[in-house]
Amino acid sequence: MRTQVGIIGAGPAGLMLSHLLHLAGIESIIIENRSRDYIEHRIRAGLIEQWATDMLIETGVGERMQREAMFHDGNHLCFNGETHHLNFKDLVGKGITIYGQQEVVKDLVAQRLKDGGQIIFEVEDTAVHDFGTDKPSITFRKDGKDQRIDCDFIAGCDGFHGICRPSFPEGTLTFYDREYPFGWLGILTDSPPPDHELIYSYHDRGFALYTMRSPTISRLYVQVDHDEDVNNWPDDRIWEELHIRLQGTRKLQEGKILQKGVTPMRSFVCEPMQTGRLFLAGDAAHIVPPTGAKGMNLALADVRMLSRALSAYYKSHKTDLLEGYSKTCLERVWKGQRFSWWMTQIFHVFPNEVPFDRRRQLAELDYIVNSRAAATSLAENYAGLPIV
Ligand code: FAD
Ligand code: DHB
Repeated sequence: MRTQVGIIGAGPAGLMLSHLLHLAGIESIIIENRSRDYIEHRIRAGLIEQWATDMLIETGVGERMQREAMFHDGNHLCFNGETHHLNFKDLVGKGITIYGQQEVVKDLVAQRLKDGGQIIFEVEDTAVHDFGTDKPSITFRKDGKDQRIDCDFIAGCDGFHGICRPSFPEGTLTFYDREYPFGWLGILTDSPPPDHELIYSYHDRGFALYTMRSPTISRLYVQVDHDEDVNNWPDDRIWEELHIRLQGTRKLQEGKILQKGVTPMRSFVCEPMQTGRLFLAGDAAHIVPPTGAKGMNLALADVRMLSRALSAYYKSHKTDLLEGYSKTCLERVWKGQRFSWWMTQIFHVFPNEVPFDRRRQLAELDYIVNSRAAATSLAENYAGLPIV
C-alpha cells in the first residue's frame, strides 16, 4: 500500500488529522489495533473547548454535536458547603461543550468512511521504519497477513502506550514526568446530573466532580488512592461518597451505574515531538491529569498544527511549519500542563499535606470566586486559550 501520510491510532488525534488532511487534498491511511466497536464505545473525555467545538462545526463533523451536545456558559466551584458560579461567557466570551469523546470518534469515523477514507482496524505488531529518510514505512499484521504502508510522513497518534514514541532513536527524547498520589474513580450513571452545569467540589475527604453526558446521564468522579482497586468500591460506597462531597448544595439522584473505572493521574511531556519524518500528536507525546479536561483538546490542537504544516509542505514545498511543529505544539502543551497541574493541586487532598496546605487551597478558591481577575484567568484557560 502507498499513501502520503500513514497515521497510527484512531483516537481523536488520528481521526481528526486524517479528516483535516482530506479537506486539504492530502491522502492518508489510519491503522488501529482495536476494533471499530471498541473505539466507538470507550468512555473517556467529555469536555470540548470553544475553538475545538468551532473546528468540528467548521470542518463539517459537528452536525450531531450541535443537535445532541450540551453547551455551557460556565461551571460551579463548591467548597465550605457552598457553590459559586463562574460565567465564562461573561468573563472571556467563550463557553464549553459537553459531548462524549466516543461520540466525537463515531462522528469522525463515519465522516472518514463517507469520504472514502481508509481505516484498518484490529491490526497487530505495528512498527515504523526509515523515518530518518524521505521513504518511511509502517508494517503491521492484519488477519494473520504481513502488510506494509509506504508513505511520505508518519503521524504517531497512538496514545500513551503506543509504539511511536519508543521508536525514536535512543537519546533523542527528554521526558518530564510527575505522578500524583491519587486517582479518579469515574462512573457513568443512568440518572440526571445534580446541576445542568459541572460542579468541581473541594472536600476534606477528597475531590469530586459532577459532570454529565446528557440531561439524563451523569458522569461522576471521586478522588481515590493512586492504585485503588475498583472492587473496593461497591455502588453504595460510591453514592455515599458522592452525596457527602456535594456538601448538601444540590440533590443527587441515584441511578443504575452503567460503567465504573479508576484512572491513575500523571503529568507527562516528551520533547521533542518529532524526529525526521515521524511526528507525535496527542497522548503519544503528553498526558495531563484530568482536572480541567485538557487531554483531548491538546490532542486536537496538535493535529490542527500538523495538518497545516503538511498542507504547506504539499502545496508549496514549504518545510518551516514542519520543522517548527514540535516547538509550536509544546508552547500550548506546557500551558495545558500548567493549568491541569494547578487545577489538580488546588482541589485534591494530598497524603503528605500539612494544615497550611488546606488553608492555602481554600484561600485560592476564595480568591477565584471573589476576584474577576482570578476568575478570568481560570475561564480563559478552561474554555481554551486562543489557537494559532
Ligand atoms: P487515544 O485516544 O489514546 O488514541 C490512541 C489510539 O491508538 C487508540 O485507539 C489505540 O487503540 C491506538 N493504538 C495504540 N497503539 C497502537 C498500535 N501499536 N497500533 C495501532 N493503533 C494503536 N480530555 C479532555 O480533553 N477532556 C476531558 O473531559 C477529559 N476527561 C478524561 C477523563 C478520563 C477518565 C480520561 C482517562 C481521560 C480524559 N481526557 C480528557 C483525556 C483524553 O481522553 C485523551 O487525552 C485523548 O483520548 C487523547 O487522544 P489521542 O487520540 O491522542 O489518544
Ligand atoms: C469531564 C472530565 C474532566 O476531567 C473535567 O475536568 C470535566 C469534564 C467529563 O468527563 O465530562
